[in-house]
Amino acid sequence: MAVLMVVAFGVVLGLCFCTALLRWNEVRYRKKGLPPGTMGWPVFGETTEFLKQGPNFMKNQRARHGSFFKSHILGCPTIVSMDPEINRYILMNEAKGLVPGYPQSMLDILGKCNIAAVHGSTHKQMRGALLTLVSPSMIRDHLLPKIDQFMRSHLSNWDGKVIDIQEKTKEMSLLSSLNQIAGKESTSMSQQFMPEFFKLVLGTLSLPINLPGTNYHSGFQARKNIVNMLERLVERRKGSGETQRDMLGVLMNGEENKYNLSNEEIIDQMITILYSGYETVSTTSMMAVKYLHDHPSVLQELRKEHLEIRERKRPDDPIEWNDFKAMPFTRAVIFETSRLATIVNGVLRKTTKDMELNGFVIPKGWRIYVYTRETNYNPSLYPEPFNFNPWRWMDKSCESQNYCFMFGGGTRQCPGKELGIAEISTFLHYFVTKYRWEEVGGEKIMKFPRVEAPNGLHIRVSSY
Ligand code: HEM
Repeated sequence: MAVLMVVAFGVVLGLCFCTALLRWNEVRYRKKGLPPGTMGWPVFGETTEFLKQGPNFMKNQRARHGSFFKSHILGCPTIVSMDPEINRYILMNEAKGLVPGYPQSMLDILGKCNIAAVHGSTHKQMRGALLTLVSPSMIRDHLLPKIDQFMRSHLSNWDGKVIDIQEKTKEMSLLSSLNQIAGKESTSMSQQFMPEFFKLVLGTLSLPINLPGTNYHSGFQARKNIVNMLERLVERRKGSGETQRDMLGVLMNGEENKYNLSNEEIIDQMITILYSGYETVSTTSMMAVKYLHDHPSVLQELRKEHLEIRERKRPDDPIEWNDFKAMPFTRAVIFETSRLATIVNGVLRKTTKDMELNGFVIPKGWRIYVYTRETNYNPSLYPEPFNFNPWRWMDKSCESQNYCFMFGGGTRQCPGKELGIAEISTFLHYFVTKYRWEEVGGEKIMKFPRVEAPNGLHIRVSSY
């Protein structure tokens, strides 16, 4: 008993000591201006630990320094914010000097008119033009028919085959967007476009070293080739004088799109749409297939929803707006997949001037990693957070609560959210009504820094 009391006393004393130390550290740093934290090695900072330990690095740093700390990762002095309240504040206050802070390689390769590279009134204009392209009426009247037709064709002939669902969802995501942008001309472009686009994506995730052989260099070359292809497309459209009912048609039509973008802006806008929807839509679709496989009761409920829609239609009738609106459980599956897999770990911002945030002074030019991953596993927001439970999203307030950042927040909240959901829903519709599947097995899925299956995710597919 006495021993226990001594141990308990020791633990309490230890805890008091730790708390006092943390408080003291906080006061000391607050006086200095910068938040607590460690900066690691010169030049490399803490990048290696961050990439190696992933979410654990963040959790360990939070245990030591609190949920607002400094570090040096991915080549920049960085503030990591894991506090939902501060994260919300940062996302809502771009105008106070908290602009997007994506890496230089991404900005170089996506172009200077890319939405992440522009702020203030230029951002308003580019975003306004983009919102016209993805408005509910545009999705209902023009994009959904294209998505439906694309998905039918993409998912045909899978019966009896072993397919890599990661590869298929990547192709799907890119080619479906290209079809929405360029309509019937996309078919003839796609074979040449796809490999260049994959190189462009790799380039945006690399170090900006422009030497032959580097991913950055080949990403840059790929951008040039893609710009050439898109310029030729714009010229052909201008020459033909026809107005097409696709995204490019709307961008080029001054009456429908009052934003009057230049050719260069139109091309960067198209690259933005292709790039922003690519990995988000493909990875969410792949992970939905994974979770549905692992949770037969969810698959059963989802299939029921889609078979009921099919029953009201003839076999070749497309999915229409009303059908899409009658898919509440599918929407819930998409949100739960996005949450549990954490497709987006967070977003990056940078300061345009010295500024005070959370009681500390953040120097101009520092990056802020608005790290939202942990919010997805907060048990007070999502009870039993590690369970795959789409039913939690059937309560609509779950989607609209203040700390649901899966599609970002504030002035940069994802404009393609409903379009992305429509694409994934249509994919799931044809997938679960046409096929059953089993995993070939043994394949690993990495969750950090990106969700991916390094060797693919192979499934054996048969007719339902
Ligand atoms: C499941 C699918 C998707 C997810 C999870 C997703 C997620 C996000 C997130 C978290 C942001 C905020 C980035 C930031 O604040 O820096 C964002 C922004 C953006 N998303 Fe999406 N996205 C998805 C689909 C799409 C699609 C299909 C498009 C195509 C139009 C798209 C276009 C954009 C654009 C253009 C932005 C930048 C907006 C701005 O800077 O004003 N997204 N998305």
